[in-house]
Amino acid sequence: MGMVNWMSFEQVLNDKVKETENVIGAYLPKEQGWAKTVMEAMNYSVNAGGKRLRPMLMAETYKLFGGREKVIEPFMAAIEMIHTYSLVHDDLPAMDNDEYRRGRKTTWVVYGDAMAVLAGDGLLNFAFETALKSFEMPACDAARKARALSILANKAGIYGMIGGQTADIEAENLGSQVTQEHLLFIHEHKTAALIQAAMMVGAVLAGADDAQVELVEKAAYEIGIAFQIQDDILDVTSTLETLGKPVGSDAKNNKTTYVTLRGLEEAMQEQKDMSNHAVALLKSLEEKGFQNSFLIELIESLITRIR
Ligand code: IPE
Ligand code: IPE
Ligand code: MG
Ligand code: MG
Ligand code: MG
Repeated sequence: MGMVNWMSFEQVLNDKVKETENVIGAYLPKEQGWAKTVMEAMNYSVNAGGKRLRPMLMAETYKLFGGREKVIEPFMAAIEMIHTYSLVHDDLPAMDNDEYRRGRKTTWVVYGDAMAVLAGDGLLNFAFETALKSFEMPACDAARKARALSILANKAGIYGMIGGQTADIEAENLGSQVTQEHLLFIHEHKTAALIQAAMMVGAVLAGADDAQVELVEKAAYEIGIAFQIQDDILDVTSTLETLGKPVGSDAKNNKTTYVTLRGLEEAMQEQKDMSNHAVALLKSLEEKGFQNSFLIELIESLITRIR
């Protein structure tokens, strides 16, 4: 606790990213046997780095509700595997057709389309193999682990991320036909859903009650929409060097984004308002004694993130 007081947010964040990478690394597959190439391609994409936001949000929400056990770790690795698979497939020529990710050539550029498809499939399946390892661990009952798995599966699937990616691809070239409501569906599902999964899994495993899990789902919705709005903003205002992925990808693919729909100024304002509202929701838990100042700072740091 004292540590958190004298260390800057950036220092604490740095340490937490490293801890998170150690957790993820412990669950990655060994590169061996006749199927070695798919394992290499999986590890190539996961080890490329990235902000590790989802596993950190999961761990910090778990702590918010008093979680203290290692049972969260396989779920942290699992959410990062699912997120990374979504990026590997998102970058494919048939989807956004991008050649850089996390400062490296994308998986399909290095390993070819077929192996990138398989590495994505591999990561998705291995995520559930990994999360299921929580049943071999002590701490909390099986019912909580099963509920966490069900949330993860739902938010990653056709009612979550895959659904959002479907609507995103189909909305290309629709231009002004894409309404605010349509875009919100896309952002909620392609991006907010995995952020909701991360935070809800943390809450459920720590034993949060239904009303608390619902509050977390609402806060994570706003964090997720704000996160995608900022992603849309950075796609027009940043550089490849800073982002580690190409800018101008949305324009290239004729995507309607928050920026094309509302303009830069309004997009920035809305991103900030939603983030602040999410923070207020989470802070409302403080009166019942549920508090995690690092989680709040992490969410606030996303408002001004540059990558
Ligand atoms: C990128 O996610 C895809 C979106 C949902 C916008 P991140 O910005 O979290 O990517 P990494 O994990 O840091 O590479
Ligand atoms: C993708 O949104 C969200 C995913 C589910 C992968 P984007 O296509 O805008 O993500 P980036 O900009 O390529 O990371
Ligand atoms: Mg995309
Ligand atoms: Mg993309
Ligand atoms: Mg983008």
